[in-house]
Formats: sequence, C-alpha cells, structure tokens
Amino acid sequence: MANIPFVLENSWHAIDGDLTGGFSFVLHNMSGEEISDFRVVFTSLTRVTAKAVCENAVFLRRNANFHELSPPAGFKLAPGASWSFKVDGLHRPARHRTDGAKSAYVTLADGTHKPCAVGDLMLEGAHSEPATPLLPEGKIEAPYFLQPWPKTVSLDGTAAYPVALVLASASAEEKEAVQKVQSLYQRLFEAAHVPFALSPVHEGRELSLSQTASLAGSAYSLDFSADKVSLSYGTQVGLQYGLTTLAQLLHGARLDAGSFSFPTSGSIEDAPRYDWRGCHLDVSRQFYPLADVSRLVDILAWFKMNIFHWHLTDDEAWRLEIKAYPELTTVGATRGPDAPLLPQLGDGAEPVSGFYSQEDVKELVAHAASLGIEVVPEVDIPGHCTAVLSVFPDLTDGQEAPESYHSVQGFPNNALNPAIEGTYDFVATVFDEMAELFPSRYVHIGGDEVADGSWLASPMARELMQKEGIEGTFGLQSYFMKRVQQMLQERGKCLAGWDEVSHGGGVSAEGTLLMAWRKPEVGIELAREGYDVVMTPGQAYYLDMVQSEAWQEPGASWAGTVSPEQSYTYEAEGDFPDELRARMKGVQACIWSEHFLSRGYFNHLVFPRLCAVAEAAWSPRSVKDWQRFAALAPHSPKL
Ligand code: ACM
Repeated sequence: MANIPFVLENSWHAIDGDLTGGFSFVLHNMSGEEISDFRVVFTSLTRVTAKAVCENAVFLRRNANFHELSPPAGFKLAPGASWSFKVDGLHRPARHRTDGAKSAYVTLADGTHKPCAVGDLMLEGAHSEPATPLLPEGKIEAPYFLQPWPKTVSLDGTAAYPVALVLASASAEEKEAVQKVQSLYQRLFEAAHVPFALSPVHEGRELSLSQTASLAGSAYSLDFSADKVSLSYGTQVGLQYGLTTLAQLLHGARLDAGSFSFPTSGSIEDAPRYDWRGCHLDVSRQFYPLADVSRLVDILAWFKMNIFHWHLTDDEAWRLEIKAYPELTTVGATRGPDAPLLPQLGDGAEPVSGFYSQEDVKELVAHAASLGIEVVPEVDIPGHCTAVLSVFPDLTDGQEAPESYHSVQGFPNNALNPAIEGTYDFVATVFDEMAELFPSRYVHIGGDEVADGSWLASPMARELMQKEGIEGTFGLQSYFMKRVQQMLQERGKCLAGWDEVSHGGGVSAEGTLLMAWRKPEVGIELAREGYDVVMTPGQAYYLDMVQSEAWQEPGASWAGTVSPEQSYTYEAEGDFPDELRARMKGVQACIWSEHFLSRGYFNHLVFPRLCAVAEAAWSPRSVKDWQRFAALAPHSPKL
C-alpha cells in the first residue's frame, strides 16, 4: 500500500432554508488495491447531528468530533477511483477552512485502520476569501524594544549599543538573577548574542544593581547614562523584570539598529497594572511535550506574565499522573480507533497518548517558580470527564439512560455524579496528590459547561435532590462544588474555577477566584456576588478564535472573530464599577487546543495575541499604543 493510501477532500455547501448547510466529501483510493466493505472515519469540530441526511453514504455513529460512515452496501472502490458522498444536518455552519475534517482514516473489511490525508475545507459555490495580513506595519514613536511597554518611559538613545551589560560589584543572589535572565534569553533566542557579562568586556557598559525598600513587589526602575545603567529593585522578581527589560532593549537594538536604540540617558519606572497576568494551556485536547510547555513558560517570563494555568484534564484525555490511579494516564490519556476513547480533533489511524509524570510536573513547577511564575493546575470536574469515566464508569449512575444528556461538545453523560460517594473519594485522592505537587494557593476545578439536564435521569441523583431539597442540575452542581471546596480547604487550598461555578447557589465566595469567560458582563456579576475575578472573555482573550472573517484564515469562531487589535485594545476593566474594581485581579489568555494540530498553527494563532494580552495585563491604559505594538510584535519569540 502507498504511504498515503487514501485522501479525503471536503467542502461545505449552503442549503436553502437550512443555515447550517452540509459537507460534500470525495475519498480517493491511492492504495493500489480495490477495497469493499470498508468504513471511513473523520474528526470534525463542525458536527453532524442526529438529523444527518446522507447522499451515497450510510451514517454509522458519532461521538463528539468522531464520525463514522460507510458507502452503500456492495460498493467497491477501485484503485485510482474515488467515492463522492454528502452529509447534511450539521450543528452549525462552517465559517473557515478549518471547520471541516481535521483528520480521517479508513477501516478495511479485516478491521485494520489505514491513514487518510485530509485537506482544508473548501467553500462550494462562493468566494473563498483569502487571509489578509493581521498586523499593520505599525509605527514607532520611541525607538525602544519593550514588551510589555513599561509604566513610564523617558529615554534618549543613539544607535551605538554596548556589546554587553557588565555587572558591577554584586551579591551572589544578584549574580544568580543576572545569569537566570541570561539563560532565559539564550533559550528564547538561540542564535543571538548574550545581553550580560559578569566580567569586564571591551565596549561593555556597566550595570549596577541596588535594592531599594521603597520598590515593592514587581516594581523596578532603570537609569541610563552613556557609560552606566543603574537598576533599582525591591524584590527578586522586580530584579528579574528589570533585567528582562534591559535584555529586551539590547535585543531590539541588535535586531534592527535602524528602528531601535539602546538608551544613553533617561529612565524607566515600571510596575504591573494587574497582579494576575495569566496564560492558560489546554493539554488535554492536544498533548504538548514537557519541553514545549517549558518553552511557553519561558515566553511568559519574557512578557512578564506570572500565572501559568495548566488545563490538565478534559473529556478527551487526563494528562496528570496520579499514582493511586495509573489507568488515568494509560486508558484515560490514549485515544485510538480501538481504544475506549475514540479518535478526536485531528487523530488518525494510529493511537495517540501522552501524560506528565509527577517528576515532569515537579520540574515544570520549579522551572516556572524560578521565573516568578505560579502554576495553577486545573482538573476539570464534574463535567468534561469522559476520560475519567472511561476508567471509572462507576462514577456515573448505572441506572441512568446512556445518552440522557450531551455536553456542548457532544459528549454523552460526561459528568461525575454528585450523588455517588465514590466521586468524592476519587476527588480526594486526586487532591491529595495535587496538593503535594503544586505549591499554588489555588486548585482550579473547572466547573464549566455542565450540560443543563445532567443527572436528572439518575435515580441516585433524584434521591439526593429529594433528601437535601436540591433543585435541578445546577443545584446538584453547587452541592458538589461546596463539598469540593471543603476538601480543598482541608488541604490548605482555595478554589479557582470557571464562571459557572457560581450557578445554582455557587460556593462560599471567601478566597474563591472565578474566571469570567462566557462574556465580559459575567465578571461584574461575579464580583458583585463577592468572588475574586480574572477576566478571560472568549471575545478578546481566547487565542483559539479566528483572527479575521476570511474563509481562508484558520481558527474557531464560536465566540466571534478576535483580531490581534481586539485582543490588544480590549479593556477588561471596561464597565467594572469603581466599588467592584478591587475584586478584578487581572486578565488571562486562554489557549484551547482543539484546532492546534501543529507548532506552525500554534504560532500563527497564539502570536502576537499572547503578547497583546501580556501588555493588557501589565501596561497602564494610558501607555497602550496599537501602532507601536504592531511594529514590535513580529520580533517576539515563538514556540
Ligand atoms: C470554557 O471555555 N469552557 C471555560
């Protein structure tokens, strides 16, 4: 058989009177052999619903993004021939080239699975708008490379820049801080000249460091003269940020001396706008090797972000080693054609698997801490638990009808049942191990997207509702969350979660931090209820969202189109009333991975918008400047 024995091409067609339209497919047989009695599987985030209407195909089954079809009985596909078929009855219209099949494979009559390449989703009978540049050329008023832009910049410079900044007399701790930022720089820009030296160098410039009690937290200040740079800081993290700023200034001057200078006079006074400057990464839908996660943490440090929210579990996989439950990261972290978890989101004929061992976690947490970044781990419960339930089916009620509810992503019966005591034993064991691994004050327990109607067909849940006087799915969710909060408190941790944790009665607001993702107004409501809030609205900070309306621009679009300019200029504080502003702890970018099938795709979607969120998190509104941002952003590091 050829290396790529099959190719599946797909297009989207509009249908009069049905906004969602349908898919047309052509399967090309390049295997050199006639096949019959076969099936084809494709994964697509635009799902075919129960109302599927097929032309020249039979719809066999669907599980979330997994779709399986066969040709009509008796159909044979000769070598070099193709099979055309249509499937109408989608749950939403396609809007971009990435809204169709993300992967496919062919299952032959003997049960073997063969690779099948897929292309982009074409648009039938309408103009396929090409992608256009996402950033303007931009304009630099002050010729300095600084990301995020500091609070106060008052500098003058010439084209001449030093070979390196040479540390004057310094304490062992200060030397270590310099070396740490030096190493960060070397990891991020492997081919570039280092910014610092510990011993004198010809044409170097002296760097003197001084600790100043008046500079609290992350604050630092820099003074420049023709032969010396002075950095004042109050804490280790302030020192790190001041050194990072110097590395950035030098980086810009070397990169493009025509556009950027290294200052010879003036000063920078700097401190962050928000305490919570976060970035989330979903490692469930796609697995990222530890080295990639570690590099993302490096990039966060370069942008002076200080929270890494690690979304470790979801329906599609559980990625965190729990020693008490090894199956969670074998069965629960493997998707494949013959595995309990079916292929999703770009998976093909081969099983895919991946998880972080506890040693990996310790390494990442220590690496992040060394760069002033707190790792907030998330296990997403009680919804988004298909992977857990593939290992522990007893955490649902056996008397509940198999497809009594579906999540918004199309997973059936995917929530841990709050009426089963074993649910709490499971969660307690997981929390015990997490509390050992993660020093963060928070454990993020998800709490998002529990489908309305969940558990209502469970006799056990019904009995609990009657006994405790609980109403509806979200009353049950609140009962569950309150017990979870208690369990976290017993382990010295506070609860963090998505905004829906507040539903149905919520949890005690004391020490609880919720992330407003569904829309900005939710953040204000949460603050009014007494919760601490981090703003992560999909409409500005979800970096999986598409960046322009053009069909050929890739990305998700359920929360709209999120241009880099929108991420940059969006003001999360927006309509927050003054009296609630103190509850708003900061902002966070979210990297949901459903569409992220390659590093190139990751880089196209995440940059420069991650940097835009970093600047929204750090820089005061008065210094934000979209044209400057656009000019600097292309020089940011990427994964
Ligand atoms: C979310 O996007 N489901 C938090």
